[in-house]
Amino acid sequence: MGYASAAILRSALRRSGSSSMASSYFANRGLASAPSHERKVAILGAAGGIGQPLSLLMKLNPLVSRLALYDIAGTPGVAADVSHINTISEVKGYAGDDQLGEALEGSDVVIIPAGVPRKPGMTRDDLFKINAGIVKSLCEAIAKYCPNALVNMISNPVNSTVPIAAEVFKSHGVYDPRRLFGVTTLDVVRAKTFYAGKAKVNVADVDVPVIGGHAGITILPLFSQATPKANLSDEEILALTKRTQDGGTEVVEAKAGKGSATLSMAYAGAIFADACLKGLNGVPDVVECSFVQSTVTELPFFASKVKLGKNGVEEVLGFGPLSDYEQQGLEALKSELKSSIEKGVTWHAKSKNPTILSVYEPVKPIFRPLSPHLPIYKPQTSSTVSITNRISAMILTAVPLSYAFLTLKLGPICLANESVYQALHYSSKLGPISLQITALAMTYHLVHGLHDLYVLYRP
Ligand SMILES: NC(=O)c1ccc[n+]([C@@H]2O[C@H](COP(=O)([O-])OP(=O)(O)OC[C@H]3O[C@@H](n4cnc5c(N)ncnc54)[C@H](O)[C@@H]3O)[C@@H](O)[C@H]2O)c1
Repeated sequence: MGYASAAILRSALRRSGSSSMASSYFANRGLASAPSHERKVAILGAAGGIGQPLSLLMKLNPLVSRLALYDIAGTPGVAADVSHINTISEVKGYAGDDQLGEALEGSDVVIIPAGVPRKPGMTRDDLFKINAGIVKSLCEAIAKYCPNALVNMISNPVNSTVPIAAEVFKSHGVYDPRRLFGVTTLDVVRAKTFYAGKAKVNVADVDVPVIGGHAGITILPLFSQATPKANLSDEEILALTKRTQDGGTEVVEAKAGKGSATLSMAYAGAIFADACLKGLNGVPDVVECSFVQSTVTELPFFASKVKLGKNGVEEVLGFGPLSDYEQQGLEALKSELKSSIEKGVTWHAKSKNPTILSVYEPVKPIFRPLSPHLPIYKPQTSSTVSITNRISAMILTAVPLSYAFLTLKLGPICLANESVYQALHYSSKLGPISLQITALAMTYHLVHGLHDLYVLYRP
């Protein structure tokens, strides 16, 4: 990057007024000089709408020494492109399950924008079902390959994906609440921008805390605490609050079916990751809003200002005095936020029971139960389809035939139980597909009930 463009970005970031990033993202450090700490950042979903500009912004961050760009496909191209930028970090692209471990190993910060964005007509539940599975499988890999990394969860619905991540980490015995963050920075970025416009103040000077969660009314901007102070009417505050809460929908509708916020989200994700890196590096007084495990309300997870340090969350800060309007907003959001959190926890518990883990989108087979014991599953979309290519080798190598699995050739569909899924998921040395029916295994499952059946599609 030329110094002229670096200067433009530097001044843009200063103008943003972000407490932790703008003032020192590029400042006080020559772009060519070595960072004082070796820091590896992994981006999971790096080839997506958010992932690509986020990869660019993290490549520009001088606190990053290694940047791992992971996606199910497309990352070699993104990595080659970004790697030509003459900043300090070394960039590598990783594509597919086989390379996920290598992408994660040694990471200090893992940013997760992997998943499906909201599109018009899509219900939150549709989004939830797809992204829950993606987040679960990625967090399982994080638990295995870099359990000490700070995890920045962008994949929506953050109100549920963060609790799912916590449950995954707990089930692997590696949960540290200080290291798990729901990224709500875009709400803060929007609140600052909208407030500055209405209050006619310099946006670079604006601070607005945003608390609660990260969807609709659970997003609660505290304009009563906004600085610089402005004399806005109740109607104006109401309109600003509503616009902040509906910011995501504003973008979804404006993009008319082509996805949700990507560029502003990449910017917000870069600010938050920068704050995490600064905290890890011992920079004092790094504070950002984030959705974290919390005791500031009765809810187990809540977004508020958080002080970041060498181990992630150093302190979850309270939210101070609220106006009557904000107090009402807080009471109103609690039940929705509570049920979103519970939904994530319940989904994780149930995911040990029959769950679709892998579906290839173009395939829409009609699903029929094989026996009265089998429920019917509807197709969903997910990204882990590549594992089905390795099923037969796993049958032959890792799983005792009479006990642990069932695979069944059935057109484009095959079935496996959790132990097969887990083994496949982490295996890297398996061969091409050749599905088999094993009578013994089938009998076992039919006798014992297919209670932990996984349905895997292949194209
Ligand atoms: N937190 C926020 O404020 C916020 C804002 C906007 C969007 N989002 C969310 O971010 C997510 C991504 O949005 P987008 O617009 O970039 O979507 P996108 O579809 O453009 O990109 C998603 C990427 O994730 C990849 N992916 C899917 N499954 C994967 C897996 N198992 N491993 C690795 N990569 C995988 C896809 O291949 C794709 O490249 C969505 O869930 C969206 O709702 C969050």
